[in-house]
Amino acid sequence: MIESVGAVELDDDLDRVDRPALWRFLSEEAYWGRWRTREIIDRQLDSAWRVAGAYETGTGAMVGFARAVSDGLGIAYLADVYTLARVRRQGIGFAIVDFMINRGPGADFRWMLHTATAHGLYERLGFVPPDGSYLERPSPLAPRASAPSEKRPAASEKRPAAS
Ligand SMILES: CC(C)(COP(=O)(O)OP(=O)(O)OC[C@H]1O[C@@H](n2cnc3c(N)ncnc32)[C@H](O)[C@@H]1OP(=O)(O)O)[C@@H](O)C(=O)NCCC(=O)NCCS
Repeated sequence: MIESVGAVELDDDLDRVDRPALWRFLSEEAYWGRWRTREIIDRQLDSAWRVAGAYETGTGAMVGFARAVSDGLGIAYLADVYTLARVRRQGIGFAIVDFMINRGPGADFRWMLHTATAHGLYERLGFVPPDGSYLERPSPLAPRASAPSEKRPAASEKRPAAS
């Protein structure tokens, strides 16, 4: 499924994902999930229920991304949402999340995510703080989302994968 929004094309084709670019962002710039090796990220990509890439019209460069984990029927978890710094505040982040959750087979799902930033963006797409029924068991490898300025473990640090 492909949709054009402003200066980008949104595509859920796994084969189109620029894996080196994804690895570069997630290992060098992301404030979350820095325990992951490239192999783990590749495996997460391969097992994703759906991905959403934003590709610059003209250059074709991947300037944003998101992936979802889901049972394919009722619940889904949104992860690794980002846009490159040079294209931020142009609506591309919103378009990626909208494409993922509203435009496609997950439109009626319960969606979940963790994020320490951009709460306003997610609120505009219907995300709200969980009610008192929501529980989670944090992973020792991926603790609760922390502020971007906090210390980040190196991506090369080898640890076992979280499930
Ligand atoms: C969070 C992130 C994905 C947002 O991407 P983005 O492309 O900047 O998203 P948008 O442009 O749709 O929206 C971002 C802000 O720009 C504003 N904006 C959108 N279009 C705009 C425009 N044309 N002019 C000015 N501002 C604009 C939005 O209202 C939004 O404001 P808010 O932060 O007050 O809600 C991006 O900043 C990012 O990758 N950050 C680092 C990674 C990260 O923190 N990921 C979240 C973890 S899930």
